[in-house]
Amino acid sequence: MVRKVTNKWWLVIILTVVLLGAAFAGCAQNKTQTTTTTTKATPTAKPTATQTQEKAESYKLVNPGYLTVGMDATYPPFEFINETNHQFQGFDVDLMKAVAQEMGLKPKFVNVAWTGIIPGLEAHKYDCICSAMTITAERAKQVYFSRPYFVASQVIVVRANDNRIHDVKDLNGKVVGVQLGTTGEFFAEKLLKQGIKFTLKKYQTTPDALLDLKDGRLDAVIIDNGVALWMAKKCPEDYKVINERLTHELYGIAVAKDNPALLKAINQALNKTIQDGTYTKIYEKWFGTKPDIKLLLNSTVQEAIQGS
Ligand code: ARG
Repeated sequence: MVRKVTNKWWLVIILTVVLLGAAFAGCAQNKTQTTTTTTKATPTAKPTATQTQEKAESYKLVNPGYLTVGMDATYPPFEFINETNHQFQGFDVDLMKAVAQEMGLKPKFVNVAWTGIIPGLEAHKYDCICSAMTITAERAKQVYFSRPYFVASQVIVVRANDNRIHDVKDLNGKVVGVQLGTTGEFFAEKLLKQGIKFTLKKYQTTPDALLDLKDGRLDAVIIDNGVALWMAKKCPEDYKVINERLTHELYGIAVAKDNPALLKAINQALNKTIQDGTYTKIYEKWFGTKPDIKLLLNSTVQEAIQGS
């Protein structure tokens, strides 16, 4: 009888220890800990609770050890494929290499069509999007945006020898090209609503639109200033940029809504690259001028959403 009671008590003690251990292991989100019970039930379990905190805040990655970045790599100088070595290159590519390094991760780039780029993020094909993406209210309903990393605007590009177009009013009666699903398209739609009449042609990629402009199938293209200036500099005999900033836009890195911890980590790394001069070096490499760091640091996601 006495023996039986003792056995029962042992059972209770063991069960308590096991349950306590399981409870701590549950917090730590570490399956392997459920098997080791005693250490978790003792006061030494406290550090585990701290680890728990860190673990709970840690982010998910599509490929462990890598920051996988989705981009529509048809957008020089932000993201494009090097014709000789077939590598990803551009301002966004260098920036994300620096951000990944700051996070202790290796960068990995995935080339995606622009129209499927947000669904691909939501489907976890990549961890984030860095693709000269303007922060807009509509997009912010679907994704989280990092702090702004680039100040941009829409501009009109025309053929170098065409002197008919000086501002948006001159688009009346013309054929205008945009990349489908971009802020260039949204701006063109707005002009149409305002009563400026032109034929709008939508392209899957910006280079496709620029090619049609060069070949005379379009009179103008509305695109981001960075790309327009790059193209005009590269092919001055083909293109020129109308010197008017039509919008005020801010680019952000997009992260899936179920990964807020990743957004936080990306923001931290991005801020670091801006503050330690890495950002400026990358900017100078691709644009040949110094960035307006003050303007950038004063820009916020909220402002971009309200202004869109
Ligand atoms: N900034 C524009 C937008 O967000 C155009 C971006 C297009 N980016 C690209 N890689 N094709 O709509």
